[in-house]
Amino acid sequence: MSFIEVAKTSEITNGKMKGVMLGGKDILITNVDGKYYAIGGKCTHAGGDLSKGVLNGKIVRCPRHGSKFDVTTGKLAGGPAAKDELKFEIKVEGASIKVNI
Ligand code: FES
Repeated sequence: MSFIEVAKTSEITNGKMKGVMLGGKDILITNVDGKYYAIGGKCTHAGGDLSKGVLNGKIVRCPRHGSKFDVTTGKLAGGPAAKDELKFEIKVEGASIKVNI
């Protein structure tokens, strides 16, 4: 288990998100009210890229068919997807955002 830098804090300001690839996985990094979160970045419905969707508060909406996920937990918040996203551990060290994979 190791934390790997995925972004600088200045890249993901409050209300923003970024998609990264880490260990062969698509991961969505978000900043909600100054706190960072990491969940799976590929929609569990049909693989839509959540980083290209819309983040509204803590809910991200998939750009393909509109499924919604809570970025703070990875939990499904609206279909057509039927499965939650994975959630990853994240921490900030200095100006580095790091995810445990
Ligand atoms: S791929 Fe995300 S809702 Fe269909």
